[in-house]
Amino acid sequence: MPINAAFIIGSGTMGRGIAQVAATAGLTTWVFDAKAEQLAGAKADIEKSLSKLVEKGKLDAAKAEAARGNLKTCAKVDDADWSKVGIVIEAIYENFDAKVSLYRDVQSRLTPDAILASNTSSISITKLAAATNRPNKFIGMHFFNPVPLMSLVEVIRGIQTDDATVESIDAMAKRMGKNPLRCNDMPGFVSNRVLMPLINEAAFALMEGVADATNIDEIAKQGCNFPMGPLTLADFIGVDVCLNILEVLHRDLGDPKFRPCPLLRKLVDAGRLGRKTGWGFHQYAK
Ligand code: CAA
Repeated sequence: MPINAAFIIGSGTMGRGIAQVAATAGLTTWVFDAKAEQLAGAKADIEKSLSKLVEKGKLDAAKAEAARGNLKTCAKVDDADWSKVGIVIEAIYENFDAKVSLYRDVQSRLTPDAILASNTSSISITKLAAATNRPNKFIGMHFFNPVPLMSLVEVIRGIQTDDATVESIDAMAKRMGKNPLRCNDMPGFVSNRVLMPLINEAAFALMEGVADATNIDEIAKQGCNFPMGPLTLADFIGVDVCLNILEVLHRDLGDPKFRPCPLLRKLVDAGRLGRKTGWGFHQYAK
């Protein structure tokens, strides 16, 4: 059965981006956050992004208007019409217990065939699935920031995820204008297993004085044709998020090549988390 309505948990950077692309794809979309201030910020941000996409000719004005109509913010789980919700996509911070507690809150409201998806970037899909009442309908749907501009969705199959769920997610990602690529459930999946060692190595190069942050980024950009240098990208993702993913890779794969660079820890201790705090490896205008 096609999915016509989505419930997005979390209205941070990723949640608001996912809500925007779901609403643009024509799904009735509830974006839930217990923090009213965060929800208001999400609404304003989505509006800004939709307008920018229209202005740049990347989105039809009528489609943007329809997306605005499809999008509903809610501060209470019961504000959604659960008989219509075909998928829940959770996009909160990386904490196993917090995620599971939210799944327990919504799963009793879900219809039997509804899918539970997580946008986690590193927590085991199999482990999250096992804590729910529908491990066969649980899946990883990993989007990339900025969600409206990045085409990839990494689709992660847990050990109990059934074929029908994987196929539904492929179809839904395509409807959202994304390119779904499948992988199995291993720490960091594919994207972060490949990306985080690059960011980590750039941090080691900075710590060891190989070059300053600007030159490390420019050399990577101009020499490897990256759209952003690795340290700028770390600031964009969040230095704390990068550190957390590296810790998961190091712990769960047990390979010393994933040991986080001490400089990442130092920046996190100093509150230099990247763009969101105005300063990470680089400084940003407020
Ligand atoms: N909606 C609409 N427009 C947006 C936007 C959004 N959400 N976010 C940024 N933009 C706009 C900017 O405002 C800017 O507009 P102007 O041109 O008017 O200033 C424009 O997009 C940026 O344009 P650029 O010419 O600078 O860059 P671009 O269009 O060629 O590409 C980019 C932008 C796609 C972000 C590119 O820089 C890029 O690919 N960067 C790397 C991003 C990346 O690697 N993301 C993955 C991070 S990892 C992750 O998310 C997962 C994880 O688990 C950690």
